[in-house]
Amino acid sequence: MSTWARPQLVLILGKRGTGKSTWARALRRRIEATGHPTVVRDPLGEYGPGTGPVLRGTSSEEAARTARELARRTRRVVWLFLEEIDSDVGRQRLDETSQLRHVIHYGRHMDVGLIAVARRPANVHPDLRNLADVVYIGRLTGDRDLAWVEEWQGKRLAEQVREAPVGRFLRVEP
Ligand SMILES: Nc1ncnc2c1ncn2[C@@H]1O[C@H](COP(=O)(O)OP(=O)(O)O)[C@@H](O)[C@H]1O
Ligand SMILES: [Mg+2]
Repeated sequence: MSTWARPQLVLILGKRGTGKSTWARALRRRIEATGHPTVVRDPLGEYGPGTGPVLRGTSSEEAARTARELARRTRRVVWLFLEEIDSDVGRQRLDETSQLRHVIHYGRHMDVGLIAVARRPANVHPDLRNLADVVYIGRLTGDRDLAWVEEWQGKRLAEQVREAPVGRFLRVEP
C-alpha cells in the first residue's frame, strides 16, 4: 500500500515565489502515479490536466464537495489540492454543513486527503493548522508569520524559515 492510500492533511506554507505550487504539483504527480484521483482548486491557472478536475473560479468549499463526490463515485481516496486557501477561506467559521470542514475534520479517516497551500500561516484557518499531519514550510519573512512559527515550533524553526532559499521546505509533523 502506498503512503497516499492513507488520507492526510498536508499544509504547504511560504511567502510568494518560494516554490509552493511547484512542490504541490510534484506531490500531485506522485499521487497520480499511484492511481489516486486528484481535484485541484487552481485560481491562478497553474495546473495541467490530471486524473480529476482542475477547477478555476470555484471556492474551496465547492472543490471539497467535488472531491467528496468523486471519492464516493470511484471508491478511491481522492486528494484535494487547495491553492491560496488563506485568501479564500481565512479564519471564518466553517459551519456543520461545510464539506471543507468535513474534509479537515474527518477526511483523513475516510475518503479525502488534503494538500492546502497558503502564503500567510497567521491567516490559515485554525482547524487546518491544528489538525495538519504534515507541514512543509518554506521561506517566510513577515513579522506576524515568523512570530506564529516561533510560537508554534520554537525559535530555531523560525530562524531557519527566515533564511530558507526558494524550493527548500522544512518538513514538520506537528
Ligand atoms: N526547487 C526549486 N528550485 C528552483 N526554482 C524553483 C524551485 N521551485 C520553484 N522554483 C521557481 O520559483 C518560482 C516560483 O515558484 P512557485 O511554485 O510558483 O512559487 P509559489 O507558489 O510559492 O508562489 C518559479 O519560477 C519556479 O520555477
Ligand atoms: Mg503558488
